[in-house]
Order: sequence, then C-alpha cells, then structure tokens
Amino acid sequence: MILSEVLIDEKEIRKRVEELGKGISADYAGKDLVVIGILKGAVVFLSDLVRCIDRDVGVTLDFMAVSSYGDSTNTSGIVRIIKDLDCSIRGKHVLIVEDIVDTGLTLSYLVKMMLEREPESVRVCALLDKVERRKVEVAVQYTGFVIPDYFVVGYGLDYSGRWRNLPSVHVVVPERGDEA
Ligand code: IMP
Repeated sequence: MILSEVLIDEKEIRKRVEELGKGISADYAGKDLVVIGILKGAVVFLSDLVRCIDRDVGVTLDFMAVSSYGDSTNTSGIVRIIKDLDCSIRGKHVLIVEDIVDTGLTLSYLVKMMLEREPESVRVCALLDKVERRKVEVAVQYTGFVIPDYFVVGYGLDYSGRWRNLPSVHVVVPERGDEA
C-alpha cells in the first residue's frame, strides 16, 4: 500500500476536535467521566480531545487494547482483549474513544462488554465513521467525520502498524503488485 492524498487535514481535524470537546463538556458539566481510549489507534485523537474538555468535567483516563481477528484491512467481529481497563467502571459515566467505526463489529462488542460492568452510562466518540460499511447497528453519539469507504491512515490510524504519526488523515491505495 502507498500513501495517497490527504482526506482531512490538520486544521480541519483541530476545528472538529474542539467542537467535539465543547459538546462533551456541555453534556457532562458537573459530572465525572471516565474516558476510555481504545489502543492504539485512538491515542492521538484522545490526547487532543481530552484537552478540549472543560475543567468542570471530572475526567479520568483508562485504556483498553483489543485485537480483532481478520486480515490487515478487514475485521471479523471476534475481539480479543489484550489489555483490560485498570479501574472499575461500575456506576460511572463512560465515554469510549475510538479512531474509526467501520463494520461496527468491534465497537458493538466493546459497548456490550462495558454495559455488562454496570456503568451509569456508556457513550461513544469516534473520529471517523465509514457509515456505508456498517454491518451491525451501533450508536455513536459523537462523530468527527463521516468518510467514504477508503482505507485511511494518519492521526493515530495505521496500515500494518505504520503511519500513525502523520498529523493529517490520508487515503492509502494498493501499490502495483499488491493483492486485491
Ligand atoms: P470494525 O470492527 O469493522 O468497525 O473495525 C474497527 C477497527 O478496524 C478500527 O478500530 C481500526 O482499528 C480498523 N479500521 C477500520 N477501517 C480502518 C481504516 O480505514 N484505517 C485504519 N484502520 C481501520
């Protein structure tokens, strides 16, 4: 795969992340909120997002690492927990922060698993959403950008572990000779 055009640039990302932070600040004002980052893809987004949430929300951070069985560009829906949360979320307001929702399989599994732990509430914030690829319904309360069915990298998202460090979101395309 090779890096292709910029789909969303740094400036657009910054503006949208600020808007998301404002919305979250308004919705959780005066409350405590456990922000859960899904490793590794959500790390860059989460670190910008939490700095856009006001101080009158009592934010704490936790992380979960999951791996979905499948090939490099497709998920199977079977999710394995590589790293679980450090703290209990029982009775807490929870915000799951994801890099991208594609088929929705990973997220629907995660939401179900969180709900079994009896939090006060669970919401989802995803930077990107490929709505047209959805296989299972999953409610995303805060969405950065709805994007077409491209494979994208940058701003935390990877292809085979690469390109997470790019400040913008780029499309990747197959190189001549790559498998279809
Ligand atoms: P889903 O279970 O199909 O919704 O897949 C979600 C996960 O697949 C994301 O958390 C990403 O790790 C990965 N993913 C899906 N689409 C892309 C993409 O375009 N670029 C990078 N990772 C992606």
